[in-house]
Amino acid sequence: MPAPTTASGLAVTVTGLHKRFGAQEVLCGLDLQIGAGELFVLMGPSGSGKSIFLRHLIGLETPTSGEVRIDGQPLTDDARNGFRLAMVFQSGGLLNSLTVAENVGLYLSEHRLRKPGEIARLVADKLALVQLEPEVASKYPPELSGGMRKRVAIARALITEPQLVLYDEPTSELDPLVALTIGREILDLNQRTGATSVVVTHDRDLAFGIADRIAFLSEGRILAIGTPDQIRTSPIPLIQSFLAADFKPA
Ligand SMILES: Nc1ncnc2c1ncn2[C@@H]1O[C@H](COP(=O)(O)OP(=O)(O)O)[C@@H](O)[C@H]1O
Ligand SMILES: [Mg+2]
Repeated sequence: MPAPTTASGLAVTVTGLHKRFGAQEVLCGLDLQIGAGELFVLMGPSGSGKSIFLRHLIGLETPTSGEVRIDGQPLTDDARNGFRLAMVFQSGGLLNSLTVAENVGLYLSEHRLRKPGEIARLVADKLALVQLEPEVASKYPPELSGGMRKRVAIARALITEPQLVLYDEPTSELDPLVALTIGREILDLNQRTGATSVVVTHDRDLAFGIADRIAFLSEGRILAIGTPDQIRTSPIPLIQSFLAADFKPA
């Protein structure tokens, strides 16, 4: 087992977050707090605003009104520089023309943050952290399975030792068994690194399998926030129908 990395997780406070695109209100006044080191899941049907919400936490979207604070500081361009934030995009976003090692180390090499030998060592650390064999480093993304590509995308996000890691639909397009192992890994990384983790997903098994707390989002509104047990037993009809086995996302 590789040595655990240390990062103190960042707390997130979202207050009155509204986001409009033209006439469409996508986020309708969200209020929530995520504790340092927490594994927080935002669950909801497709189109409910999960990805847009997540993009606000890393400054890729600006609120129409309301605000996001990271450890008490408003998330502005200046403040973001002081925090180590990372996002695992739904598509993975790997570059097919680069090897796995080059993809994982890209941020450090592009910004000339480390010497090449040091980058190689850090890349090897991160690949081990996501349970990938060292031989994978020299392969190209198209040579890998979907689950392995997802792990590489996670390793790449971890290269800066982030204090807040955001995952957008980390189990989409994976078969159920692989989805289960990716979920376990996200939980394991949360515990070993101490980084706050925010996962958005419509995968109920993932949400209930890993979350400290779950918020349920529907049409840009949070219908409930609580422990997995509290959400599972929620009396809200929409949540119950979403959790019913035969629910088909719109
Ligand atoms: N850049 C954009 N411009 C206009 N509408 C958008 C934009 N991005 C997302 N939306 C709309 O916002 C809503 C929520 O999208 P999204 O956050 O991607 O949903 P989810 O991730 O929950 O499936 C959708 O109706 C989508 O069409
Ligand atoms: Mg989405």
